Amino acid sequence: MSTVSSESIRWVEDEVARMCRDLAARLQFHGWHHVSFVRDKAVHFARRNGSDAALVEVAALVHDVNYMVRRNSLPVDGRDLRLGILRRAGVPDGVAARVDAVVEEAEMRTRHRGISPEAQALSDADTLFKALPVTPVVLAPKYLEENGISLRELAHKIVGEQAGKHDEGYYFYDPEAAATYSRWATANLELWQCIVESLDDPTVDRLLSAVG
Ligand SMILES: [Fe+2]
Repeated sequence: MSTVSSESIRWVEDEVARMCRDLAARLQFHGWHHVSFVRDKAVHFARRNGSDAALVEVAALVHDVNYMVRRNSLPVDGRDLRLGILRRAGVPDGVAARVDAVVEEAEMRTRHRGISPEAQALSDADTLFKALPVTPVVLAPKYLEENGISLRELAHKIVGEQAGKHDEGYYFYDPEAAATYSRWATANLELWQCIVESLDDPTVDRLLSAVG
């Protein structure tokens, strides 16, 4: 018996999709396109690692609601909204607390090798979105717009948060994901490291100021 009923999952899905639609103008990066991608992939990874796929699905649906509360924020900033959505969906309090804990565990900034299988499934899905070859080309400018940060800040954030996990071998937890996507992750991190280096050149800095 699953910890989250299919009725509750569908309710959360409809509610988060509606909120994403209503706030689409300011969720350029973390809108429904991101949430639904992470949900689909997280469920796939949960089925592979034998964790609670229903809990992972609902965690994926509410993992980024903090960006609805405040731009450039942390998962904890969305806790009240997250727990409120889960309560209204009929998810028992204890299960909702576990969903919130999985979201916290899976956060790129603080995740480690020993997080729960549910958090691993969510993390792999969210990390895959970051590592997609199209993300720096199509979606990074949308991240800057949504969160009001500079390219320099984003480049330092990505390299600072992700390079250690990549070098220490837990960028992806699922061996199939690691085998399939590590080349993309390596290229992506190399690109962002190069962006950091290029911004140290004052002429590049002037170029970027000139194009706004
Ligand atoms: Fe995310």
